[in-house]
Amino acid sequence: MNHQQLRKEDFGNDFVWGIAMSAFQNEGAWNEGNKSESIWDRFSHKKNRILDKTNADVTTDFYHRYREDIRLTKELGFEVFRFSFAWSRILPNGIGTVNHEGIDFYHKVIDTCLEFGLEPWPTIYHWDLPQILEDMGGWTNRHIVDWFVEYCEVLTEEFGSKVKHWMVLNEPAGFTGLGYMTGYHAPGRMGMSNFLPAVHHTALCQAEGARVIRRNVSDAVIGTTFSCSHIEPHTHRFADIKAAQKVDALLNRLFLEPALGLGYPIEDLPFLKTMMKKHVFEGDMERLAFDFDFIGIQNYFKLVMKGAWWMPYINAMEVKPHKRGVHHTTDLGWEVSPDGMYEIIKKFASYPQIKQLIITENGAAFKDTLRHGEVHDPERTAFYQTYLQSILKAKQEGINLGGYLAWTLTDNFEWREGYQPKFGLVYVDFETQERIVKSSGKWFKEFLTAEKKHKQADILVSEKVIC
Ligand code: NOJ
Repeated sequence: MNHQQLRKEDFGNDFVWGIAMSAFQNEGAWNEGNKSESIWDRFSHKKNRILDKTNADVTTDFYHRYREDIRLTKELGFEVFRFSFAWSRILPNGIGTVNHEGIDFYHKVIDTCLEFGLEPWPTIYHWDLPQILEDMGGWTNRHIVDWFVEYCEVLTEEFGSKVKHWMVLNEPAGFTGLGYMTGYHAPGRMGMSNFLPAVHHTALCQAEGARVIRRNVSDAVIGTTFSCSHIEPHTHRFADIKAAQKVDALLNRLFLEPALGLGYPIEDLPFLKTMMKKHVFEGDMERLAFDFDFIGIQNYFKLVMKGAWWMPYINAMEVKPHKRGVHHTTDLGWEVSPDGMYEIIKKFASYPQIKQLIITENGAAFKDTLRHGEVHDPERTAFYQTYLQSILKAKQEGINLGGYLAWTLTDNFEWREGYQPKFGLVYVDFETQERIVKSSGKWFKEFLTAEKKHKQADILVSEKVIC
């Protein structure tokens, strides 16, 4: 299939198209509107944590420019707007007193989506825990289950009448692994003694949060999202195969399987036995399961692993693309692998418990240049086209795929990497906050609105014939 042949209608009329973004990466206004400090505010204000020494105090200023960005999303032809709530804006103390300025802000975001005919799809937690809760142990403190339930109650009672699609967590393996094991992300904690309790409490929140939505929101469509990558062994050697299996369990199965009622992948990750002993209490295993309406796949690249006996816990090491002679990578060094997208969809679809899959994030960072007021980014466009072809192939094989959300509308704050990686379909001049639609954004518009244009042209033609 060549790129020109990619047509929106091949995905079906009920397949939804959207944009995904998050509070911390876009809102800015870090200390406005009675918002309290989040772990990412604290982390990014420390020296040497963010590679380009920036922070997200202002970022794309979505807090003040939400209307412009929502309108732009609509203009590009999308119909779903995925954003996240900032816990520290809703409940500055983590629990207790609700901040009405925060509530008002999200009402405005939701109302603006509805005004422009976009469906608001919020994520409850996209990595920005209130610092005040981190000071009490954050995700390592079992009380977080109660704190999170309270936060979910507030959100669903407040917004449940307007919002039907909800996602509980964004990439739990990402924020527990990077935030509590390697320390690369906020809150910057390290080691198994932090990681293991964080994993179990997060998995409990994933299901408990979903139960709150089910209870409080009639007709809710409830999902949660997972970072995931197709994992290949470097060779057929036993050690490489084992390495791939372990990494697959850690990155792809750790949070998915308990949600599906399958428990933790302990056989492939024996270190989880310590977690079972220390942090999993009676009745917990049943509480981990929830009958999600959809599962969000967030895929960017594939990984190739080889055995490495000296690596603790996983005995595995990545074989980087350039070491395998692969040079087609994004600005973050991630291998461009549309086949990996196809493989991971197939893997998720092989769980009979999953009702529907939605690609809740996919996109690419490439270096952009602004020339004569335009950004021409053919690499990003090609990335989207080839990944969409893989998704279409999986869909045409009968997999229940309900939609696709591109990461992301505007260039924004890419966590530890700061503003260096550019993921947007829309370029942002961070001095002036001017937005310029890149050629990839224009391609999406063309792709998403072509059918409409054809239909309008048909109507015009038939009107002429009638006249
Ligand atoms: C994962 C995260 O959900 C999002 O916040 C991040 O910016 C993108 N993927 C790209 O790395």
